[in-house]
Amino acid sequence: MPRKKQTKRGRPKKQTKRTKPKKTRGRPKKSKRGRPSKPKKPKIKKISVQSPKGTHDILPENQKYWIKMRKTINNVAEEYGFKRIDTPIFEDVNLYIKGTGQSTDIIQKEIYTFKTKGGDAYALRPEFTPGIVRSYIEHGMKKRPQPVKLYTLGPVFRHDKPQAGRYRQFYQFNFESIGDQSSLSDVQIIQAFIHILKRLKIKNFTLYINSIGCPICAPEYKKALVQYYRKHRNDICVDCKKRLKENPLRLLDCKKTKCKNIIPEAPQVVDFLCDECKEHFKETLELLDELEISYILDPLMVRGLDYYTKTVFEIWEGDQKSEIGALVGGGRYDNLVEMFGGKPTPAVGAAAGFERIISIIKKQDIKVREKKKPEIFMVQLGEMGKRRSLKLFEEFRKKGIRVGEAFSKDSMKSQLKAADKRKAKIALIIGQKEAIEENVILRDMTSGNQEVIPMNKIMKEVKKRLK
Ligand code: HAM
Repeated sequence: MPRKKQTKRGRPKKQTKRTKPKKTRGRPKKSKRGRPSKPKKPKIKKISVQSPKGTHDILPENQKYWIKMRKTINNVAEEYGFKRIDTPIFEDVNLYIKGTGQSTDIIQKEIYTFKTKGGDAYALRPEFTPGIVRSYIEHGMKKRPQPVKLYTLGPVFRHDKPQAGRYRQFYQFNFESIGDQSSLSDVQIIQAFIHILKRLKIKNFTLYINSIGCPICAPEYKKALVQYYRKHRNDICVDCKKRLKENPLRLLDCKKTKCKNIIPEAPQVVDFLCDECKEHFKETLELLDELEISYILDPLMVRGLDYYTKTVFEIWEGDQKSEIGALVGGGRYDNLVEMFGGKPTPAVGAAAGFERIISIIKKQDIKVREKKKPEIFMVQLGEMGKRRSLKLFEEFRKKGIRVGEAFSKDSMKSQLKAADKRKAKIALIIGQKEAIEENVILRDMTSGNQEVIPMNKIMKEVKKRLK
């Protein structure tokens, strides 16, 4: 038992009460056994975090698909003469309300809007087309040789019900040809998208096409459609009852079973096309025939966006429309530039979602390899070896040679294992001895043969062997 401290007179010393712990200066306080006591770990308040519903991370192992997609899109765009444009991720909300259309699902249910502190109302882009048209007008692109052919890619946002092929943040690529009314432009857009799918080695996809007319003939068709649906008023869903009043064309898009049963007997827009729209559609189909691009006429396809006129089309995987949705969707929008205050300018374009296409690449088991340059791998032993390796790593990196390393590992075995996993052709081993003697051990990872090479000759030797 520890004895109490005694005063000179032999009585135990009175303990004075301390309110504050005594500050320890200099060396840390020692415990009774003489070892420094461990500082107490502050408690970290934990919160659980997850990606927002309907969004996803693109992990390193999946990047190869995204790289392949971007590369293919860039190459095809260049071959067809489309120039890259990038527009802001958010725009004035009215651009979409007016452009995409007040009564569309995108505006009614899916658009993400926000107000700034200054009171401006913006929206995260739910699609690219209105932004590109805004840019065309704002930058006076009408003065450039027409058509102005633009393409873009990036994230778009729609508050959709998350399910297979449907995300709230997804990636789209768009091709838009603004300033040409000829059906050649419609076909070139279709051709570009087909080429992208083919180059990605996607097998078995189907092009569906229709014409939805123009402001001259479309109203007649809408009247006939409303008449037909009025007879079926009691058989349609609540949403369709609303569509019947606000946007009858959208009745043909309804996915509810009871409404789907009514669609096949509905009047078809092709029977109402004016002469100009009929001629445009005929020319488009003839050009497709000439180019041997097969298609299915889909007289009840109208697409869910308000700006379309004349041609509309979609490309789906397989022979039938499946749950995941269209891979590509597009069409002509001859009135959008004028609606945004520009001169009357015909236009046509299309877009496709990265996620849907990548899911097909995976489903069809299409091999996408990461194209890697041959790699060398630094293996180091001991402090001096590590320092020398670090320096050599930089020298190779500067010369454009890909170098792998496992500097956090100390054992030769685990470093060589890492080199093997990275499929390195050559491992460069530097230990204490090699560092002092200014040498490097070059190990051929395929044969396992090792040679000692002077440090000042190693660059030349590696380059020779990587050729
Ligand atoms: P869209 O049909 O709304 O057209 O979308 C085009 C493509 O984007 C779809 O075919 C699909 O691949 C992808 N996509 C749409 N929604 C989602 C989602 N929630 N999750 C994943 N992917 C999705 C447009 O956006 C028009 N701006 C196309 C256009 C351009 N028309 C003329 N020019």
